Amino acid sequence: MKVLGIETSCDETGVAIYDSEHGLLADTLYSQVKMHAEYGGVVPELASRDHIRKLLPLVSETLKEANLSSQDIDAVAYTAGPGLIGALMVGASTGRAMAMAWGVPAIGVHHMEGHLLAPMLEESPPVFPFVALLVSGGHTQLVKVTAIGQYELLGESLDDAAGEAFDKAAKMMGLDYPGGPLVAKLAEQGDRTRFRFPRPMTDRPGLDFSFSGLKTFTLNTVNDHKVDGVLADQTRADIAAAFEDAVVETLTIKCKRALQQTGLKQLIIAGGVSANQRLRDRLESMVAKEHAALFYARPKFCTDNGAMIAYAGCQRLLAGQSSDLVIEAKPRWAM
Ligand code: KG4
Ligand code: ZN
Repeated sequence: MKVLGIETSCDETGVAIYDSEHGLLADTLYSQVKMHAEYGGVVPELASRDHIRKLLPLVSETLKEANLSSQDIDAVAYTAGPGLIGALMVGASTGRAMAMAWGVPAIGVHHMEGHLLAPMLEESPPVFPFVALLVSGGHTQLVKVTAIGQYELLGESLDDAAGEAFDKAAKMMGLDYPGGPLVAKLAEQGDRTRFRFPRPMTDRPGLDFSFSGLKTFTLNTVNDHKVDGVLADQTRADIAAAFEDAVVETLTIKCKRALQQTGLKQLIIAGGVSANQRLRDRLESMVAKEHAALFYARPKFCTDNGAMIAYAGCQRLLAGQSSDLVIEAKPRWAM
């Protein structure tokens, strides 16, 4: 079964074709990041308009890259939520309309299920059951995954998501949007011993997270160290390192707890923040001590992309599900 997947929930237009027999055949992505950077964050109306401009050309490009025509496509999967409603509507209505024109089924996919299954696109994928840490700009969740569609929420952020905290901390340090990768890059030059930021909610039991206090702590540290309103380059790097370490260590402590609590030996990390090298390194050492294994997707499939939607849609369709003629677009949707 060849599934064309469409992702338009935020600021990336992604299209891909996944074949249940031969794997990923093609994937294309257009990032709007540069356009939004000027405004310091995603402008929803601009995002929707750009998805409209880019989506159909990307569909043609993806078919061409896979050496296929529309007649070869067996189904269409599109991100149905959660995300920006206007942006979601572009992918949902286009995906649904293409499926209707081509006479094939369509299915609305949960964006976070897409992220969660992205490591399945890699060469040695995990096997069910496993623990998943979902860390994106909008979500921070620990999930026990037993099978496709069988997800038990073990813990989540009570306030900001980890990626959101990275983006806000970046803004306080005068860095562009999206800040996560920039904070990570800056942290490489930082002295990791100069500041020690709190590891929120690690001193009490449970698997929930909270990152808003860390944001306030970062703001206070930035303000306390400005000289004549300016933050020295080295101090900025030291703060970035302390911030990154605090997030990474907090996530690592909770992942270890989740493995111990469930007795499972496989941990997957997914979502934009799972591209963070420091996080990968710390988790690798943690799982080694726990005699467990760590799985993640290649960096371009950690952030938003069409491949994860094509894959998740394909699994759902193989299980007999589809969305009929409804155009599904849900800005808020629990997985
Ligand atoms: O999954 P994603 O592309 O979009 C959402 O579904 O939210 O995640 C984007 C988030 C942003 O907050 C971005 O700053 C963060 O992932 N991010 C990173 C890194 N790469 C992306 N955060 C820390 N380190 C990175 N290397
Ligand atoms: Zn995402």
